[in-house]
Amino acid sequence: MAPLLDSMVATALLTTLVCPVTASYGFYIGKDLSASGHTMLGGTGEEVSSHWLQIFPAADHPPNSTLTVGVTPDATLPGNLINITQVPHTYRYMSMEYSDYEGFPAPLTNGGVNEHGVAVRDIWASNRDELYSMTPNLQTGIQYSDLARLVLERATTAREGVQLIGDLIAEYGYATYGGNSHLIADKDEGWVVWEFAGGEKLWAAERLGPDVVRVSYPGYIEEFPLDFADNDTNYMGSPNLVSFAEEQGWWNASSGEAFNVFKVYGVQGDNYTARDGGFKYMSQAALEELAMEKAPLTEADLMELVRDPRIADDEAGYGQVVTLKTVSNGTGGSDESFVDPDLIRIWNAPTGSVTAPFNVWWLGVESVPPEYGQHRYLTKDAASTFLNPDFQLQEASVFAGRVFKRLLYYTCSNPERLLLE
Ligand SMILES: *[C@@H]1O[C@H](CO)[C@@H](O)[C@H](O)[C@H]1NC(C)=O
Ligand SMILES: *[C@@H]1O[C@H](CO)[C@@H](O)[C@H](O)[C@H]1NC(C)=O
Ligand SMILES: *[C@@H]1O[C@H](CO)[C@@H](O)[C@H](O)[C@H]1NC(C)=O
Ligand SMILES: *[C@@H]1O[C@H](CO)[C@@H](O)[C@H](O)[C@H]1NC(C)=O
Ligand SMILES: *[C@@H]1O[C@H](CO)[C@@H](O)[C@H](O)[C@H]1NC(C)=O
Ligand SMILES: *[C@@H]1O[C@H](CO)[C@@H](O)[C@H](O)[C@H]1NC(C)=O
Repeated sequence: MAPLLDSMVATALLTTLVCPVTASYGFYIGKDLSASGHTMLGGTGEEVSSHWLQIFPAADHPPNSTLTVGVTPDATLPGNLINITQVPHTYRYMSMEYSDYEGFPAPLTNGGVNEHGVAVRDIWASNRDELYSMTPNLQTGIQYSDLARLVLERATTAREGVQLIGDLIAEYGYATYGGNSHLIADKDEGWVVWEFAGGEKLWAAERLGPDVVRVSYPGYIEEFPLDFADNDTNYMGSPNLVSFAEEQGWWNASSGEAFNVFKVYGVQGDNYTARDGGFKYMSQAALEELAMEKAPLTEADLMELVRDPRIADDEAGYGQVVTLKTVSNGTGGSDESFVDPDLIRIWNAPTGSVTAPFNVWWLGVESVPPEYGQHRYLTKDAASTFLNPDFQLQEASVFAGRVFKRLLYYTCSNPERLLLE
Protein backbone atom coordinates (compact mmCIF):
# COMPACT_ATOMS: atom_id res chain seq x y z
CA MET A 1 0.00 0.00 0.00
CA ALA A 2 2.66 2.44 1.06
CA PRO A 3 4.44 2.85 -2.31
CA LEU A 4 1.10 3.27 -4.07
CA LEU A 5 0.02 5.88 -1.53
CA ASP A 6 3.37 7.61 -1.86
CA SER A 7 3.06 7.71 -5.60
CA MET A 8 -0.49 9.05 -5.32
CA VAL A 9 0.69 11.76 -2.97
CA ALA A 10 3.61 12.48 -5.28
CA THR A 11 1.28 12.74 -8.27
CA ALA A 12 -1.05 15.03 -6.38
CA LEU A 13 1.86 17.19 -5.29
CA LEU A 14 3.30 17.31 -8.77
CA THR A 15 -0.08 18.41 -10.10
CA THR A 16 -0.17 21.25 -7.61
CA LEU A 17 3.40 22.18 -8.49
CA VAL A 18 2.97 22.42 -12.22
CA CYS A 19 -0.74 23.16 -12.57
CA PRO A 20 -1.67 25.91 -10.14
CA VAL A 21 -5.43 26.34 -9.94
CA THR A 22 -4.93 30.03 -10.43
CA ALA A 23 -2.81 31.53 -13.10
CA SER A 24 -3.45 34.93 -14.82
CA TYR A 25 -2.88 35.72 -18.45
CA GLY A 26 -1.69 38.66 -20.49
CA PHE A 27 -1.88 39.88 -24.09
CA TYR A 28 0.75 42.14 -25.66
CA ILE A 29 -0.25 43.77 -28.96
CA GLY A 30 2.65 45.48 -30.77
CA LYS A 31 1.86 48.96 -32.05
CA ASP A 32 2.03 47.93 -35.71
CA LEU A 33 -0.82 45.47 -35.10
CA SER A 34 -3.16 47.85 -33.31
CA ALA A 35 -5.71 49.98 -35.13
CA SER A 36 -4.59 53.16 -33.36
CA GLY A 37 -0.88 52.54 -33.97
CA HIS A 38 -0.21 52.27 -30.23
CA THR A 39 0.95 49.34 -28.09
CA MET A 40 -1.80 47.65 -26.07
CA LEU A 41 -1.60 45.42 -23.02
CA GLY A 42 -4.44 43.42 -21.50
CA GLY A 43 -5.03 40.61 -19.07
CA THR A 44 -6.32 39.29 -15.78
CA GLY A 45 -5.23 38.36 -12.29
CA GLU A 46 -6.34 34.85 -11.36
CA GLU A 47 -6.46 35.01 -7.60
CA VAL A 48 -9.26 33.78 -5.36
CA SER A 49 -9.30 36.85 -3.13
CA SER A 50 -11.29 39.99 -3.80
CA HIS A 51 -9.81 42.60 -6.14
CA TRP A 52 -10.15 46.35 -5.80
CA LEU A 53 -8.98 49.42 -7.66
CA GLN A 54 -6.37 51.65 -6.10
CA ILE A 55 -4.56 54.80 -7.20
CA PHE A 56 -1.09 55.34 -5.78
CA PRO A 57 0.02 58.99 -5.91
CA ALA A 58 3.59 59.93 -6.74
CA ALA A 59 5.62 60.30 -3.56
CA ASP A 60 8.88 61.76 -2.26
CA HIS A 61 10.77 59.73 0.31
CA PRO A 62 13.21 61.03 2.92
CA PRO A 63 16.87 59.97 2.69
CA ASN A 64 17.58 56.44 3.95
CA SER A 65 13.94 55.35 3.65
CA THR A 66 13.35 51.65 3.24
CA LEU A 67 10.48 49.45 2.14
CA THR A 68 9.61 45.92 3.18
CA VAL A 69 9.51 43.18 0.53
CA GLY A 70 9.44 39.39 0.18
CA VAL A 71 7.48 36.63 1.84
CA THR A 72 6.76 35.60 5.43
CA PRO A 73 6.99 32.18 7.10
CA ASP A 74 3.28 31.79 6.16
CA ALA A 75 3.95 31.52 2.41
CA THR A 76 3.72 28.12 0.68
CA LEU A 77 7.49 28.39 0.21
CA PRO A 78 8.27 30.16 3.49
CA GLY A 79 10.70 33.01 3.92
CA ASN A 80 11.51 36.14 5.83
CA LEU A 81 10.67 39.69 4.85
CA ILE A 82 13.58 42.06 4.20
CA ASN A 83 13.91 45.84 4.00
CA ILE A 84 15.39 47.35 0.86
CA THR A 85 16.47 50.87 -0.05
CA GLN A 86 13.70 53.23 -1.16
CA VAL A 87 14.33 55.69 -4.01
CA PRO A 88 13.93 59.45 -3.45
CA HIS A 89 10.84 59.65 -5.71
CA THR A 90 8.24 57.08 -6.78
CA TYR A 91 5.82 57.56 -9.70
CA ARG A 92 2.04 57.64 -9.70
CA TYR A 93 0.24 54.49 -10.87
CA MET A 94 -3.11 52.70 -10.91
CA SER A 95 -3.50 49.04 -10.02
CA MET A 96 -6.05 46.36 -9.19
CA GLU A 97 -4.96 45.11 -5.77
CA TYR A 98 -5.79 41.83 -4.04
CA SER A 99 -5.21 40.27 -0.64
CA ASP A 100 -4.06 36.70 -1.06
CA TYR A 101 -1.98 34.38 -3.19
CA GLU A 102 -0.03 31.38 -1.90
CA GLY A 103 0.28 33.00 1.51
CA PHE A 104 2.08 36.10 0.23
CA PRO A 105 1.61 39.25 2.34
CA ALA A 106 -1.21 41.63 1.32
CA PRO A 107 -1.77 43.85 -0.47
CA LEU A 108 -0.55 42.33 -3.74
CA THR A 109 -0.62 43.60 -7.32
CA ASN A 110 -0.34 42.11 -10.80
CA GLY A 111 0.71 45.51 -12.09
CA GLY A 112 -1.19 48.29 -13.82
CA VAL A 113 0.08 51.42 -15.52
CA ASN A 114 2.17 54.37 -14.35
CA GLU A 115 2.42 58.05 -15.26
CA HIS A 116 5.20 57.36 -17.79
CA GLY A 117 3.00 55.00 -19.77
CA VAL A 118 4.76 51.85 -18.54
CA ALA A 119 2.32 48.96 -18.03
CA VAL A 120 3.10 45.71 -16.22
CA ARG A 121 1.29 42.39 -15.94
CA ASP A 122 2.35 39.62 -13.61
CA ILE A 123 1.76 36.10 -14.96
CA TRP A 124 2.46 32.62 -13.69
CA ALA A 125 5.29 30.70 -15.39
CA SER A 126 6.11 27.48 -13.54
CA ASN A 127 9.59 25.98 -13.42
CA ARG A 128 11.03 22.48 -13.45
CA ASP A 129 10.57 20.66 -10.13
CA GLU A 130 14.30 20.73 -9.30
CA LEU A 131 14.22 24.54 -9.11
CA TYR A 132 11.14 24.45 -6.89
CA SER A 133 12.85 21.96 -4.55
CA MET A 134 16.11 23.92 -4.49
CA THR A 135 14.40 27.03 -3.13
CA PRO A 136 15.94 27.75 0.29
CA ASN A 137 13.76 27.28 3.33
CA LEU A 138 13.65 30.07 4.52
CA GLN A 139 13.99 32.17 1.38
CA THR A 140 14.59 35.92 1.18
CA GLY A 141 14.26 38.27 -1.76
CA ILE A 142 11.85 40.37 -3.75
CA GLN A 143 8.67 38.56 -4.85
CA TYR A 144 6.58 38.85 -8.02
CA SER A 145 4.14 41.46 -6.70
CA ASP A 146 6.95 43.60 -5.26
CA LEU A 147 8.70 43.50 -8.65
CA ALA A 148 5.56 44.60 -10.53
CA ARG A 149 5.03 47.42 -8.04
CA LEU A 150 8.67 48.54 -8.13
CA VAL A 151 8.59 48.70 -11.93
CA LEU A 152 5.48 50.94 -11.74
CA GLU A 153 7.10 53.10 -9.06
CA ARG A 154 10.50 53.45 -10.72
CA ALA A 155 10.53 52.77 -14.49
CA THR A 156 10.04 55.32 -17.27
CA THR A 157 10.31 52.71 -20.06
CA ALA A 158 9.71 48.97 -20.39
CA ARG A 159 13.44 48.38 -20.93
CA GLU A 160 14.21 50.22 -17.70
CA GLY A 161 11.67 47.99 -15.96
CA VAL A 162 13.52 44.86 -17.14
CA GLN A 163 16.88 46.25 -16.06
CA LEU A 164 15.39 47.19 -12.71
CA ILE A 165 14.11 43.65 -12.13
CA GLY A 166 17.54 42.27 -13.01
CA ASP A 167 19.36 44.71 -10.73
CA LEU A 168 16.99 44.12 -7.81
CA ILE A 169 17.25 40.34 -8.08
CA ALA A 170 21.05 40.58 -8.29
CA GLU A 171 21.15 42.71 -5.17
CA TYR A 172 18.45 41.18 -2.99
CA GLY A 173 17.51 37.80 -4.49
CA TYR A 174 14.13 36.54 -5.63
CA ALA A 175 11.46 35.07 -3.34
CA THR A 176 9.04 32.76 -5.14
CA TYR A 177 6.10 30.36 -5.09
CA GLY A 178 7.64 28.41 -7.98
CA GLY A 179 8.66 30.79 -10.78
CA ASN A 180 6.78 33.67 -12.34
CA SER A 181 6.91 36.04 -15.30
CA HIS A 182 6.13 39.66 -16.10
CA LEU A 183 4.90 41.24 -19.28
CA ILE A 184 6.10 44.86 -19.39
CA ALA A 185 5.22 47.29 -22.17
CA ASP A 186 5.53 50.90 -23.23
CA LYS A 187 4.72 52.93 -26.36
CA ASP A 188 7.48 51.22 -28.37
CA GLU A 189 7.90 47.64 -27.24
CA GLY A 190 7.17 44.85 -24.81
CA TRP A 191 9.31 42.48 -22.74
CA VAL A 192 8.68 39.07 -21.21
CA VAL A 193 10.71 38.65 -18.03
CA TRP A 194 10.85 35.16 -16.50
CA GLU A 195 12.10 34.83 -12.93
CA PHE A 196 13.07 31.36 -11.70
CA ALA A 197 12.67 29.57 -8.39
CA GLY A 198 15.66 27.97 -6.67
CA GLY A 199 17.31 30.90 -4.92
CA GLU A 200 19.97 31.20 -7.65
CA LYS A 201 18.93 34.68 -8.87
CA LEU A 202 18.18 33.27 -12.33
CA TRP A 203 16.12 35.28 -14.82
CA ALA A 204 15.75 35.78 -18.56
CA ALA A 205 14.02 38.42 -20.67
CA GLU A 206 13.01 38.64 -24.33
CA ARG A 207 12.01 41.78 -26.22
CA LEU A 208 8.74 41.84 -28.16
CA GLY A 209 8.81 44.16 -31.14
CA PRO A 210 6.10 46.39 -32.64
CA ASP A 211 4.96 43.69 -35.09
CA VAL A 212 4.42 40.98 -32.49
CA VAL A 213 1.46 39.58 -30.58
CA ARG A 214 2.35 37.69 -27.42
CA VAL A 215 0.08 35.82 -25.07
CA SER A 216 1.46 34.71 -21.72
CA TYR A 217 -0.67 31.79 -20.44
CA PRO A 218 1.77 30.97 -18.86
CA GLY A 219 4.66 33.30 -19.74
CA TYR A 220 7.29 31.67 -21.93
CA ILE A 221 10.65 32.28 -23.60
CA GLU A 222 12.11 29.81 -26.09
CA GLU A 223 15.39 30.02 -28.03
CA PHE A 224 17.87 32.35 -26.42
CA PRO A 225 21.27 33.53 -27.74
CA LEU A 226 24.27 32.31 -25.75
CA ASP A 227 26.02 35.66 -26.15
CA PHE A 228 23.09 37.69 -24.75
CA ALA A 229 25.41 39.45 -22.31
CA ASP A 230 27.18 41.15 -25.25
CA ASN A 231 24.06 42.70 -26.74
CA ASP A 232 20.96 43.63 -24.79
CA THR A 233 18.92 44.83 -27.79
CA ASN A 234 16.55 41.87 -27.74
CA TYR A 235 17.60 39.67 -24.81
CA MET A 236 18.69 40.15 -21.21
CA GLY A 237 19.29 37.70 -18.39
CA SER A 238 21.21 36.85 -15.26
CA PRO A 239 24.93 36.20 -15.83
CA ASN A 240 24.54 32.57 -14.65
CA LEU A 241 21.62 31.73 -16.96
CA VAL A 242 23.65 29.38 -19.18
CA SER A 243 26.39 28.30 -16.78
CA PHE A 244 23.94 27.18 -14.10
CA ALA A 245 22.07 25.00 -16.60
CA GLU A 246 25.37 23.43 -17.65
CA GLU A 247 26.39 22.76 -14.04
CA GLN A 248 23.09 21.00 -13.43
CA GLY A 249 23.42 18.93 -16.61
CA TRP A 250 20.22 20.46 -18.01
CA TRP A 251 21.95 21.70 -21.14
CA ASN A 252 25.40 21.47 -22.67
CA ALA A 253 27.05 23.15 -25.60
CA SER A 254 28.29 19.92 -27.16
CA SER A 255 24.79 18.51 -27.48
CA GLY A 256 24.36 20.77 -30.51
CA GLU A 257 20.93 21.88 -29.26
CA ALA A 258 20.03 25.54 -29.11
CA PHE A 259 19.63 27.04 -25.65
CA ASN A 260 15.87 27.05 -25.17
CA VAL A 261 14.82 28.69 -21.91
CA PHE A 262 11.54 26.78 -21.68
CA LYS A 263 13.19 23.42 -22.34
CA VAL A 264 15.98 24.08 -19.88
CA TYR A 265 14.15 25.76 -17.00
CA GLY A 266 10.41 25.24 -17.69
CA VAL A 267 8.12 22.44 -16.57
CA GLN A 268 9.53 19.14 -17.83
CA GLY A 269 7.35 16.40 -19.33
CA ASP A 270 6.51 15.10 -22.76
CA ASN A 271 3.14 16.78 -22.83
CA TYR A 272 4.42 20.24 -21.90
CA THR A 273 5.56 22.62 -24.61
CA ALA A 274 6.39 26.30 -24.42
CA ARG A 275 3.44 27.69 -26.32
CA ASP A 276 1.11 24.97 -27.43
CA GLY A 277 0.47 22.35 -24.88
CA GLY A 278 0.03 20.99 -21.39
CA PHE A 279 -1.27 24.03 -19.56
CA LYS A 280 -4.68 25.62 -19.00
CA TYR A 281 -7.62 25.72 -21.45
CA MET A 282 -6.50 27.26 -24.79
CA SER A 283 -2.81 27.35 -25.68
CA GLN A 284 -0.88 30.56 -26.11
CA ALA A 285 -0.40 29.63 -29.79
CA ALA A 286 -4.17 29.41 -30.32
CA LEU A 287 -4.75 32.69 -28.51
CA GLU A 288 -1.96 34.43 -30.43
CA GLU A 289 -3.46 33.23 -33.73
CA LEU A 290 -6.87 34.47 -32.64
CA ALA A 291 -5.39 37.90 -31.92
CA MET A 292 -3.50 37.98 -35.24
CA GLU A 293 -6.74 37.22 -37.12
CA LYS A 294 -8.26 40.38 -35.62
CA ALA A 295 -5.30 42.62 -36.51
CA PRO A 296 -5.33 45.58 -36.65
CA LEU A 297 -6.88 45.36 -33.19
CA THR A 298 -8.92 48.02 -31.41
CA GLU A 299 -9.28 48.26 -27.62
CA ALA A 300 -12.71 46.64 -28.04
CA ASP A 301 -11.06 43.69 -29.86
CA LEU A 302 -8.59 43.25 -27.03
CA MET A 303 -11.40 43.37 -24.45
CA GLU A 304 -13.14 40.64 -26.44
CA LEU A 305 -9.99 38.49 -26.18
CA VAL A 306 -9.51 39.14 -22.46
CA ARG A 307 -13.15 38.24 -21.67
CA ASP A 308 -13.36 35.25 -24.04
CA PRO A 309 -15.42 32.66 -22.11
CA ARG A 310 -13.02 29.93 -23.20
CA ILE A 311 -10.36 31.43 -20.92
CA ALA A 312 -12.10 33.99 -18.67
CA ASP A 313 -13.89 32.10 -15.92
CA ASP A 314 -14.55 32.48 -12.19
CA GLU A 315 -10.78 32.47 -11.63
CA ALA A 316 -10.14 35.57 -13.76
CA GLY A 317 -10.28 37.99 -10.82
CA TYR A 318 -10.52 41.16 -12.90
CA GLY A 319 -9.80 42.40 -16.42
CA GLN A 320 -7.60 45.21 -17.64
CA VAL A 321 -6.85 46.80 -21.03
CA VAL A 322 -4.60 49.80 -21.64
CA THR A 323 -3.26 51.65 -24.68
CA LEU A 324 0.26 53.06 -24.34
CA LYS A 325 1.01 56.36 -26.07
CA THR A 326 3.88 58.79 -25.77
CA VAL A 327 3.33 60.68 -22.53
CA SER A 328 3.58 64.41 -23.05
CA ASN A 329 5.90 66.34 -20.79
CA GLY A 330 3.93 69.55 -21.17
CA THR A 331 6.39 71.19 -23.56
CA GLY A 332 5.57 69.45 -26.77
CA GLY A 333 3.51 66.79 -28.39
CA SER A 334 -0.01 68.08 -28.46
CA ASP A 335 -1.18 65.93 -31.37
CA GLU A 336 -3.24 62.73 -31.19
CA SER A 337 -0.29 60.45 -30.56
CA PHE A 338 0.63 62.12 -27.27
CA VAL A 339 -1.23 61.86 -24.02
CA ASP A 340 -1.10 63.98 -20.91
CA PRO A 341 -0.23 61.75 -17.92
CA ASP A 342 -3.59 62.60 -16.31
CA LEU A 343 -5.35 61.27 -19.40
CA ILE A 344 -3.69 57.86 -19.56
CA ARG A 345 -6.78 55.69 -19.98
CA ILE A 346 -7.25 52.33 -18.28
CA TRP A 347 -10.18 49.94 -18.73
CA ASN A 348 -10.78 47.88 -15.59
CA ALA A 349 -13.38 45.17 -15.08
CA PRO A 350 -14.04 44.86 -11.33
CA THR A 351 -14.12 41.04 -11.47
CA GLY A 352 -13.97 38.38 -14.20
CA SER A 353 -14.67 40.36 -17.37
CA VAL A 354 -16.70 37.58 -19.01
CA THR A 355 -19.71 39.16 -17.27
CA ALA A 356 -18.26 42.37 -15.78
CA PRO A 357 -18.05 45.62 -17.78
CA PHE A 358 -14.73 47.23 -18.59
CA ASN A 359 -15.11 50.58 -16.84
CA VAL A 360 -13.05 53.49 -18.06
CA TRP A 361 -10.63 55.25 -15.70
CA TRP A 362 -8.01 57.93 -16.18
CA LEU A 363 -4.78 58.16 -14.25
CA GLY A 364 -5.65 61.74 -13.26
CA VAL A 365 -8.55 60.47 -11.13
CA GLU A 366 -7.81 61.29 -7.49
CA SER A 367 -10.10 58.93 -5.66
CA VAL A 368 -11.98 55.70 -6.24
CA PRO A 369 -15.73 55.56 -5.48
CA PRO A 370 -16.36 53.31 -2.46
CA GLU A 371 -18.13 50.71 -4.64
CA TYR A 372 -14.82 49.99 -6.41
CA GLY A 373 -12.57 50.12 -3.31
CA GLN A 374 -11.62 47.31 -0.97
CA HIS A 375 -14.48 45.39 0.68
CA ARG A 376 -14.54 42.47 3.11
CA TYR A 377 -16.09 39.99 0.67
CA LEU A 378 -13.37 37.38 -0.11
CA THR A 379 -10.66 39.51 1.48
CA LYS A 380 -8.04 37.64 3.48
CA ASP A 381 -8.58 37.60 7.25
CA ALA A 382 -11.96 39.37 6.95
CA ALA A 383 -13.63 36.48 8.77
CA SER A 384 -11.41 36.82 11.84
CA THR A 385 -11.63 40.57 12.47
CA PHE A 386 -14.41 43.10 13.01
CA LEU A 387 -14.52 45.96 10.56
CA ASN A 388 -12.05 48.79 11.05
CA PRO A 389 -14.42 51.73 11.73
CA ASP A 390 -12.55 53.83 9.13
CA PHE A 391 -14.04 51.55 6.46
CA GLN A 392 -17.68 51.61 7.63
CA LEU A 393 -18.93 53.93 4.91
CA GLN A 394 -16.98 52.06 2.26
CA GLU A 395 -18.41 48.76 3.49
CA ALA A 396 -21.90 50.28 3.46
CA SER A 397 -21.64 50.69 -0.31
CA VAL A 398 -22.52 47.99 -2.83
CA PHE A 399 -19.28 46.22 -3.85
CA ALA A 400 -18.92 46.18 -7.65
CA GLY A 401 -16.78 43.03 -7.48
CA ARG A 402 -19.59 41.15 -5.76
CA VAL A 403 -22.37 42.49 -8.00
CA PHE A 404 -20.63 41.15 -11.09
CA LYS A 405 -19.70 37.85 -9.41
CA ARG A 406 -23.44 37.41 -8.86
CA LEU A 407 -24.06 38.20 -12.52
CA LEU A 408 -21.43 35.61 -13.48
CA TYR A 409 -23.02 32.89 -11.36
CA TYR A 410 -26.48 33.75 -12.62
CA THR A 411 -25.21 33.61 -16.20
CA CYS A 412 -23.71 30.18 -15.51
CA SER A 413 -27.23 28.90 -14.80
CA ASN A 414 -28.09 29.27 -18.49
CA PRO A 415 -25.08 30.49 -20.48
CA GLU A 416 -26.63 29.82 -23.91
CA ARG A 417 -29.35 32.32 -23.20
CA LEU A 418 -27.69 34.72 -20.76
CA LEU A 419 -24.08 35.18 -21.86
CA LEU A 420 -24.84 37.14 -25.00
CA GLU A 421 -27.19 39.43 -23.08
C1 LIG B 1 21.67 58.04 5.86
O1 LIG B 1 22.58 56.98 6.11
C2 LIG B 1 23.93 57.34 6.04
C3 LIG B 1 24.75 56.07 6.15
O2 LIG B 1 24.32 55.28 7.23
C4 LIG B 1 24.23 58.35 7.13
O3 LIG B 1 25.58 58.77 7.04
C5 LIG B 1 23.33 59.58 6.95
O4 LIG B 1 23.50 60.47 8.02
C6 LIG B 1 21.87 59.15 6.89
N1 LIG B 1 21.06 60.31 6.54
C7 LIG B 1 19.96 60.64 7.19
C8 LIG B 1 19.24 61.87 6.71
O5 LIG B 1 19.53 60.00 8.15
C1 LIG C 1 11.92 47.03 8.36
O1 LIG C 1 11.78 48.36 8.77
C2 LIG C 1 10.71 48.57 9.67
C3 LIG C 1 10.57 50.06 9.88
O2 LIG C 1 11.81 50.65 10.13
C4 LIG C 1 10.99 47.81 10.96
O3 LIG C 1 9.94 47.98 11.86
C5 LIG C 1 11.12 46.33 10.62
O4 LIG C 1 11.48 45.60 11.76
C6 LIG C 1 12.15 46.11 9.54
N1 LIG C 1 12.06 44.72 9.09
C7 LIG C 1 13.12 43.97 8.84
C8 LIG C 1 12.84 42.60 8.35
O5 LIG C 1 14.26 44.38 8.96
C1 LIG D 1 22.64 43.84 -31.29
O1 LIG D 1 21.61 43.07 -31.87
C2 LIG D 1 20.77 43.79 -32.75
C3 LIG D 1 19.59 42.89 -33.12
O2 LIG D 1 20.04 41.66 -33.60
C4 LIG D 1 21.56 44.30 -33.92
O3 LIG D 1 20.72 45.03 -34.77
C5 LIG D 1 22.69 45.18 -33.41
O4 LIG D 1 23.50 45.56 -34.47
C6 LIG D 1 23.52 44.44 -32.37
N1 LIG D 1 24.49 45.37 -31.77
C7 LIG D 1 25.74 45.10 -31.60
C8 LIG D 1 26.58 46.14 -30.96
O5 LIG D 1 26.21 44.02 -31.95
C1 LIG E 1 26.39 16.76 -23.48
O1 LIG E 1 25.28 16.31 -24.26
C2 LIG E 1 25.57 15.16 -25.04
C3 LIG E 1 24.36 14.91 -25.93
O2 LIG E 1 23.17 14.94 -25.20
C4 LIG E 1 25.90 14.01 -24.10
O3 LIG E 1 26.21 12.87 -24.87
C5 LIG E 1 27.10 14.40 -23.25
O4 LIG E 1 27.36 13.40 -22.32
C6 LIG E 1 26.83 15.69 -22.53
N1 LIG E 1 28.06 16.12 -21.86
C7 LIG E 1 28.10 16.53 -20.61
C8 LIG E 1 29.45 16.96 -20.08
O5 LIG E 1 27.10 16.57 -19.90
C1 LIG F 1 0.94 15.34 -18.56
O1 LIG F 1 1.43 14.05 -18.35
C2 LIG F 1 1.41 13.66 -17.00
C3 LIG F 1 2.15 12.34 -16.89
O2 LIG F 1 1.81 11.48 -17.93
C4 LIG F 1 -0.04 13.58 -16.53
O3 LIG F 1 -0.08 13.20 -15.18
C5 LIG F 1 -0.64 14.96 -16.68
O4 LIG F 1 -2.00 14.92 -16.34
C6 LIG F 1 -0.50 15.45 -18.10
N1 LIG F 1 -0.93 16.85 -18.12
C7 LIG F 1 -1.74 17.30 -19.06
C8 LIG F 1 -2.12 18.73 -18.91
O5 LIG F 1 -2.16 16.61 -19.97
C1 LIG G 1 9.33 67.14 -24.12
O1 LIG G 1 8.80 66.39 -25.22
C2 LIG G 1 9.16 66.92 -26.50
C3 LIG G 1 8.43 66.10 -27.55
O2 LIG G 1 8.70 64.75 -27.41
C4 LIG G 1 10.70 66.86 -26.62
O3 LIG G 1 11.06 67.42 -27.86
C5 LIG G 1 11.34 67.63 -25.48
O4 LIG G 1 12.73 67.47 -25.54
C6 LIG G 1 10.85 67.14 -24.15
N1 LIG G 1 11.36 68.01 -23.09
C7 LIG G 1 11.88 67.52 -21.97
C8 LIG G 1 12.32 68.54 -20.96
O5 LIG G 1 12.02 66.33 -21.75
